[in-house]
Amino acid sequence: MKPNCALLLTNIGQLLTLRSAAEGPRRGASLSELGIIQDAAVLCIAGKIVSVGTTKDALRDPWLKKNRKKMVEIDCGGRVVLPGFVDSHTHPVFTHPRLVDFEQRISGANYEEIGEAGGGIRSSLDGVRKASKTALAQKVSAVLVDLARHGTTTVEAKSGYGLNLESELKSLEAIRAAAREWPGTVVPTFLGAHAVPPEYRGRSQEYVDLVCNEMMPAVAKRKLAQFVDVFCDRGAFSAGETAQVFTAAEEHGLAVRAHLGQLSETRLGPLLRYRPASLDHMDHVNAADLPVLAQTDTVATFVPGANYFLGLREYPNARRFIESGVAVALATDYNPGSSPTLSMAMAMSLACTHMKMSPAEAIAAATINGAWALRLAGRKGSVEAGKDADLAVFDVSDYREIPYWFGANRCALTIVNGVPSGHIS
Ligand code: NIG
Ligand code: FE
Repeated sequence: MKPNCALLLTNIGQLLTLRSAAEGPRRGASLSELGIIQDAAVLCIAGKIVSVGTTKDALRDPWLKKNRKKMVEIDCGGRVVLPGFVDSHTHPVFTHPRLVDFEQRISGANYEEIGEAGGGIRSSLDGVRKASKTALAQKVSAVLVDLARHGTTTVEAKSGYGLNLESELKSLEAIRAAAREWPGTVVPTFLGAHAVPPEYRGRSQEYVDLVCNEMMPAVAKRKLAQFVDVFCDRGAFSAGETAQVFTAAEEHGLAVRAHLGQLSETRLGPLLRYRPASLDHMDHVNAADLPVLAQTDTVATFVPGANYFLGLREYPNARRFIESGVAVALATDYNPGSSPTLSMAMAMSLACTHMKMSPAEAIAAATINGAWALRLAGRKGSVEAGKDADLAVFDVSDYREIPYWFGANRCALTIVNGVPSGHIS
């Protein structure tokens, strides 16, 4: 199908539009409002959503009647259609799964111990440093294709396993090359401050200076990233070092986000000054910071795939965030160490069962609030006229089945930028 062609989806059992009259990311009760239209239809032209309504109204429309033969029409057969997922946190540039870490954790070691003993993030460096840009781009391309098969149409993609100038640039260039081949939307993030590489062991400040003074200017000059991320936590980078990286990002006109509170608590006040688009993980947060966070548009992004895969008993206290009015999102955190899943439906299922988010809240967190977390809510995350034609068709008849059938991919068809891929009969 040509991208300019008109695409008409009819007989949608439940269309989750996620439309809202309110400004800003979803919070509190509004997180549960999915804007459902039963027996719905969606018309897309040239990669944009043009109209949204009931099938009956669509088929009565004079313009549509006249042009129907020229369109590609998909009868959704009563299935559920929702905005393509916005996965706002992934690390797709790596070469090998970390199977030794996996087995060591099963034998009782934890994430931090494995990292300190030479496993963890640092054990992914070698593969990335030795790989060619083309090889990395092929890996990322395969991930993007798989993401779309699972209903994801927009993805944030971080560097962070190169950790020297050459390999961070190579990682971001691989993301750019793969993004060019994919009809979906990729938001690149520079994560030079993911870990202190072995050659800088004990010289963290020198490495942070390298990130700020050499890597970041090169990344900005080549326009390789939209965001700068930092792993701000015990054993990674301090709040002071994070502020230094954020200041440099500001100077280069790059927006910021952070991994925060995965292993230990960091107070939010000093970092919120940099207006981060999102703070991710958030397992350990000072309760006094939640009302402060709720006053901002910074999204708290939960990545329960990491809690699951690291075998943790505890998950972030999502109810407390939601009741405090914090805007929350869900993401996969796809990476070889802590969360090798690219299924947003799986992240949603974990959020429902372990974090007591309702299926409706999980859907809003995986779509419109993910779009806010990437500052793309003007184009993504809801099914409304004018937005990008990014949709997922799930082979279920009730949206609550999406997190319910965990571990299986029920996404039958994905519309990416107006172009369908997949199959329904
Ligand atoms: O989000 N916590 C830091 N970064 C990743 C893990 C990366 C890795 O272990 O390779 C995360 O969980
Ligand atoms: Fe991460």
